[in-house]
Amino acid sequence: PLPPKFASPLPVPPEARPSGGRYELTAHTVEREILPGRRTRILSYGGSFPAPTIRARRGQPLDLLLRNELDVETVIHLHGGRTPPESDGYPTDVVLPPSGQVPHHLMAGDITTGQRTYHYPLDQRAATLWYHDHTMDYTAPNVYFGMAGFFLIGDDEEDALPLPGGDRELPLMICDRAFDADGQFRYPAISPERRVPGVTEPYMGGVLGDVILVNGAPWPEHQVSATRYRLRLLNASNARRYELDLGMPMVQIGTDGGLLEQPMERRTVTLAPAERADVIVDFSAAPVGTRVTMHNRLGDGGTAEVMRFHVVRHEPDDTEIPQRLSTIEPLDPGKVSAVRDIRFRLTRPPGGGQHGGHHGASQDSGMRWTVNDQVFDPEVSLAEPGLGDTEIWRFSTDVHHPVHLHLVHMQVLSRNGGNPRKDDRGWKDTVDLIPGETCEVLTRFDGYRGRYVFHCHNLEHEDMAMMANFTVT
Ligand code: C2O
Ligand code: CU
Repeated sequence: PLPPKFASPLPVPPEARPSGGRYELTAHTVEREILPGRRTRILSYGGSFPAPTIRARRGQPLDLLLRNELDVETVIHLHGGRTPPESDGYPTDVVLPPSGQVPHHLMAGDITTGQRTYHYPLDQRAATLWYHDHTMDYTAPNVYFGMAGFFLIGDDEEDALPLPGGDRELPLMICDRAFDADGQFRYPAISPERRVPGVTEPYMGGVLGDVILVNGAPWPEHQVSATRYRLRLLNASNARRYELDLGMPMVQIGTDGGLLEQPMERRTVTLAPAERADVIVDFSAAPVGTRVTMHNRLGDGGTAEVMRFHVVRHEPDDTEIPQRLSTIEPLDPGKVSAVRDIRFRLTRPPGGGQHGGHHGASQDSGMRWTVNDQVFDPEVSLAEPGLGDTEIWRFSTDVHHPVHLHLVHMQVLSRNGGNPRKDDRGWKDTVDLIPGETCEVLTRFDGYRGRYVFHCHNLEHEDMAMMANFTVT
């Protein structure tokens, strides 16, 4: 049976404010109450789900020490982070458990045993980032079992704005999960003992759940005052897209890569996996006593609702939404040094039928999720931009694929040759491609030289090797 709706309070993940430029996080298995009265086994960073919210500052580097006390390998990727390649969480750079053997499928990764320190320079603007597992072939189950948390970068520019803060700033991690009769996460991996990666044919589209969790609680309710709130929305689902609708206006102030230049009124906000939206909601528009439900226009049945706010009291509110939030330097399409076509699609390998190889895909039909007709190969780079080069990447797709580039942020130039959508404004690290779409983005390969991945952020597609390298030279 599904848990009751709006019966759980909204959890706020524990906050970590690293001091002295260091923070330690232990990955271990714990049991937590997600469904009322049940214990669910989770793979955790820091013992909680979501993992602790790490609050960091622009320009203050952070060394994140990960200790692995799980019985499987793990890797941390700071999603949206401008990170040197050795700390970016390359999928084969796994941290083994202390007693771990190197699994043969990891090939030539930069493998450590027991622990690893990730160095984050954080030379980047304020933004809602998140961190999550990125293990080769097993990102989807690891994230599904709990390995994700917020990573919020703040800066002086943002602090100077009169936006809601404190308990009126809510990070909301939205994800769908399915549970078995024992209250455990039900993930239909092809092989529960994790010897064969990938999922079976019915899950080629990705794994969906019938319970919507926000900050790890099913359809929670949160009591609010009749004031403005800042909601940092993150779609941390493996495969589900949402169109969020509060039935009252939302003012979007930020996206994946931080603040927009100007606030933008939205009736709904659409989020594909890994996308973020920073919105202000003014609950003074609802009389005290009102319950405001966040709906998902792309869901049905239980998944058509996400959570509920209960407006319980009046309170003074001295916040404002300034008409000017930030400045975004437009990348210049006239300075482009390469235009690349990047195709995300299902491909039948030449000859068809059964193909060996360890990369999951559909084990049955041989159909593969591919980038430019190739499955991921750590030895091959699809693009080798020079450091500082601006390029146009022209994505095209067969079905829904949220496309994510590590290291850089993008500016969307066009959709199907026409104007970008409202959801495309600002700096993006993940672009939501809908079926049959073409989308051109501009990006500048700043920051670091080295090898990085880009991939579909439908995590089952990613585990089925819909991923490729680019190397900044
Ligand atoms: Cu959010 Cu490569 O990942
Ligand atoms: Cu995909």
